[in-house]
Amino acid sequence: MRSACASAPGKVILFGEHFVVYDKPALVSSIDLRAYVEAMEIDQGFHLEGWSGDNPALRASRYVAERLGYGRGIKLRTRSEIPQSVGLGSSASISVASAAATSLMIGKPLDLDLIMEAAHQGEKLIHYKPSGIDTAIASLGGAGVYRRSEGFRRLSFKLQDIIIVNTGKMRRTGDLVKKVKDLRDSNPKMFARILEDAESLIQEALEALRSPDIERIGILMRRNQELLRSIGVSSREIEDAIKLCMKAGALGAKLTGAGGGGCIIAVAEDEKIPKIIDEVKRFFQAMRSRLMVEGVRSEPSI
Ligand code: PMV
Repeated sequence: MRSACASAPGKVILFGEHFVVYDKPALVSSIDLRAYVEAMEIDQGFHLEGWSGDNPALRASRYVAERLGYGRGIKLRTRSEIPQSVGLGSSASISVASAAATSLMIGKPLDLDLIMEAAHQGEKLIHYKPSGIDTAIASLGGAGVYRRSEGFRRLSFKLQDIIIVNTGKMRRTGDLVKKVKDLRDSNPKMFARILEDAESLIQEALEALRSPDIERIGILMRRNQELLRSIGVSSREIEDAIKLCMKAGALGAKLTGAGGGGCIIAVAEDEKIPKIIDEVKRFFQAMRSRLMVEGVRSEPSI
C-alpha cells in the first residue's frame, strides 16, 4: 500500500486578527513549530487515527482525493508540535499537511492552490467564517500581508524571533469570531471606526517591521491590543501574561489569533529575550520562536 508524509508550519498573527475577517489586511508569519501528517492508502473510506467522525484534516484529504480522481480510501496519522486551540494555527497546519500528504501519496506534485483550497474547506468545519489567513501561511510559509479579497503577499520582515506565551486557556476560534460579528451587528458605526484604526495601524506596522524599528513594533502591538480589547476578545489571562512580559522588559505584547485565552506574543531586544522567558515561565509556558520558516513540504516520515 502506498503512503506519503508532509508537514506544515504554525503561525502567529503579528497584527490584524479579527479585522482580517472583515477584509482588512493582517501581518502574519510562519513559526518554527510544525504539524506532520502521513497519508496511507487503504481499500475504502477516510479515517484519521485516534478520531471518529468528520474533522478538518479528513475533509481536506477527501477534497484533494476527489479533485485528483483517486478512487480508494485513505488513513491519516498525525503528529504535531503546535499546541491546539491557542491561536497558533494548529488545525490549519494539520489540514494543509493532510492535503499535501494525500496529494503526494496519490503521486501528484504539490499544487499550493489546491492545498489551500482543500484546507480552507476543512477549516470551514470549525471556524465560523475563516478569513483564510491560517491556511495561506501554513501552505506558503515565510511572512507577509494577507487580505481576504487579495490573498497573501510575501514580504521580508526584519524581525527574526518572537516570544510566545501560552496562557493555557483553550478556546474556539468560531465562538470568538461570532462574538465579534454580534458586536459589529449591534454597533456598526463604532465597529467601522475600529476597522479604520486597525487598517492604519497595519501601514505603520509594516514600515516598523521592515526597518526594523523594534521599539515602534512594541508600541504598535500595544495599540493593536487596545483595539482587540475594545472588541471584547481579550481575557484576564491574556492581560496578566502581557503585564508579566512588559514588567520583565518586553517592548510590547498582544494576543495572537482569536484571543479569549490562547497565546500572546511579545517583542523585545534580542539580548533581553532569555530573561523575559525565564521570568514569564514561573507562571505560563513561554518560548522563543523563529519567524519566517518554510511552508508545506514533503517529509521522509512523521
Ligand atoms: O486562533 P486562530 O489560530 O484560529 O486564528 C484566528 C484568526 C482570526 O482572525 C480571529 C480568524 C480568521 O479566520 O482570520
